[in-house]
Amino acid sequence: MELQQGRRSSQHRCARSGDTLHAGLVVTLLIGVWYAQALEVTTGKVHFVEVLNGSSVLLPCSYSSCIGIKKLYFNWHFKDNGTMVKLCEATITAEGVEPRVMIYHMRVEFVGSSKQNNISILLHNVTFEDQGEYICFARNFKEKDRNHSATYTLYVVEELKVVDNTLTLIIVSVLGGVIGLIILIMVIKAIVQTVLSKVQEKNKECLVSSTGNDNTENGLPASKADSKPTPKA
Ligand SMILES: *[C@@H]1O[C@H](CO)[C@@H](O)[C@H](O)[C@H]1NC(C)=O
Ligand SMILES: *[C@@H]1O[C@H](CO)[C@@H](O)[C@H](O)[C@H]1NC(C)=O
Ligand SMILES: *[C@@H]1O[C@H](CO)[C@@H](O)[C@H](O)[C@H]1NC(C)=O
Ligand SMILES: *[C@@H]1O[C@H](CO)[C@@H](O)[C@H](O)[C@H]1NC(C)=O
Ligand SMILES: *[C@@H]1O[C@H](CO)[C@@H](O)[C@H](O)[C@H]1NC(C)=O
Repeated sequence: MELQQGRRSSQHRCARSGDTLHAGLVVTLLIGVWYAQALEVTTGKVHFVEVLNGSSVLLPCSYSSCIGIKKLYFNWHFKDNGTMVKLCEATITAEGVEPRVMIYHMRVEFVGSSKQNNISILLHNVTFEDQGEYICFARNFKEKDRNHSATYTLYVVEELKVVDNTLTLIIVSVLGGVIGLIILIMVIKAIVQTVLSKVQEKNKECLVSSTGNDNTENGLPASKADSKPTPKA
């Protein structure tokens, strides 16, 4: 009885904490909705890219804001072994006004356009040292300078990996071989059984007996069946 009471009270407590959780969720949702109306910075659906050394790569970033843009400050940083290196920065004074971008890196080119809410950059002649995280940061004055950022990861490789199908091929081949073998064995067994049943058609007792059938593999069905005439059943 005591045990049951204890369980009931703990259930009650669970329900209470669930209520608190609910309230928290609602608050979180409200904040989420409020945020969604503000500035949003994104690098798109894909958050990383793999490129060959020596090639040029687009580091995408775009922004959107339901409340509009006013003095939108943005920059790009490269996270070089923990330290942040500023690549470029600019301010879009108003919607549709092209920014004057200050560039602090030899191989960086600004390719965005405020008409497309695009603040992407190109990184030329990629080296292995360029591998790492690139952070696109933006702040809208119209939004009390709240910070927004999105991260894009760059992987530099010597050669683009060709999807290695060898293992899959081996597995499929082996599996196919095994299945083929099983089918072959079953077919052979069926043929042998048919032949045997035809041979033993006159001897109906042997056909019914399972012992006789089991012993077909021994190649001595008749003799075995004869020596042990009593079936399993
Ligand atoms: C890429 O790196 C490899 C190995 O370091 C080098 O042999 C190759 O020339 C590089 N390619 C370019 C285009 O720089
Ligand atoms: C990163 O920094 C640490 C300490 O500052 C250093 O030991 C390490 O070698 C650095 N790694 C690279 C790849 O530069
Ligand atoms: C990239 O490398 C090529 C050949 O080495 C060079 O001509 C070009 O100026 C480089 N581009 C940049 C932006 O550094
Ligand atoms: C941004 O501009 C670059 C260069 O014009 C383009 O390649 C890229 O697709 C654009 N990105 C978006 C999200 O519009
Ligand atoms: C926004 O970022 C700047 C650095 O760019 C920092 O000084 C400031 O404290 C940040 N503000 C908020 C609200 O996080």
